[in-house]
Amino acid sequence: MTLILGFEDYLPQAEKLALCLSLPIKQVNLHQFPDGETKVTLPEKLPKKVIICRSLNQPNDKLIELIITASAARDQGVEHITLVAPYLCYMRQDIAFNIGEAISQKIIGKLLSEYFDSVITIDPHLHRIKNLTEAIPNKAAITLHANHAISAFLQQKFTQPIIIGPDEESEQWVKAIATPHQWQYSIATKQRYSDTKVDVSFSESDLNTNTALNLTGHDIIIVDDIASTGKTLEQAVIQIKQQNPKSISVIVTHAFFVDSAIENLTRLGVNNIWSSDSIPHSSNAFSIIDTIATQLKIDETS
Ligand code: R5P
Repeated sequence: MTLILGFEDYLPQAEKLALCLSLPIKQVNLHQFPDGETKVTLPEKLPKKVIICRSLNQPNDKLIELIITASAARDQGVEHITLVAPYLCYMRQDIAFNIGEAISQKIIGKLLSEYFDSVITIDPHLHRIKNLTEAIPNKAAITLHANHAISAFLQQKFTQPIIIGPDEESEQWVKAIATPHQWQYSIATKQRYSDTKVDVSFSESDLNTNTALNLTGHDIIIVDDIASTGKTLEQAVIQIKQQNPKSISVIVTHAFFVDSAIENLTRLGVNNIWSSDSIPHSSNAFSIIDTIATQLKIDETS
């Protein structure tokens, strides 16, 4: 029997995964020493297969704790360890943009491949590579998508929304969400100057029908994989507002919304701010855990 191991900061999601798979779950306990080190305590008597479920936002401490957990599990005789990390950290630094910069994606990917037999994640930020196995050199590095969950969620809320992607990379998600419903969609162009300074230029054509797009009086949904500072979404909202839409909503897979990102979007008049539960956040409105459970069921039977 496989056991799911969860951590306090991601327990509701790990419990949901256990429920979907009808598997038992136990918690890994963490104790923070005054000097910042962590004591990691695993349950006794682990089975041969475990699934560790923890998202890797705020990754620096979590990576160390995960490695200690995986190593201690091996010491107890565990033979197969799957890491379920709906948000996978360090995927954005995939080249050295300046001399001397470490290519974190490769370094962290290699590290994970050494400790885990398989890794399952949701929409990692793969910009210049196509396959997660190029970052995590492990046969079983699996990318799943939030598209279906987003699409199903939006379908319950709107009849004919217009979907907007704030940059070229978002086209993959926006297209997958809009086309099954024949919703109009468009992709903007983004220029990033720094962590907090971006420009978004809006495109006025509907890519579904290749015709002109008019946002006036329509429900507009901006879709992105990650909201960090929220500046990308803010700039998209500013452009879209000029066309007097009926409503503007934003929906993202991985919600960081650091500092005053939520307040800034709210101040701009955004009607809804939604995210998946890949990262615990007050904007969480739908779950990607069922998508992961489906994949694990397939793995179990193959
Ligand atoms: C980058 O290309 C991603 O898809 C997101 O657009 C980006 O991470 C969002 O960052 P921020 O919220 O800081 O603008």
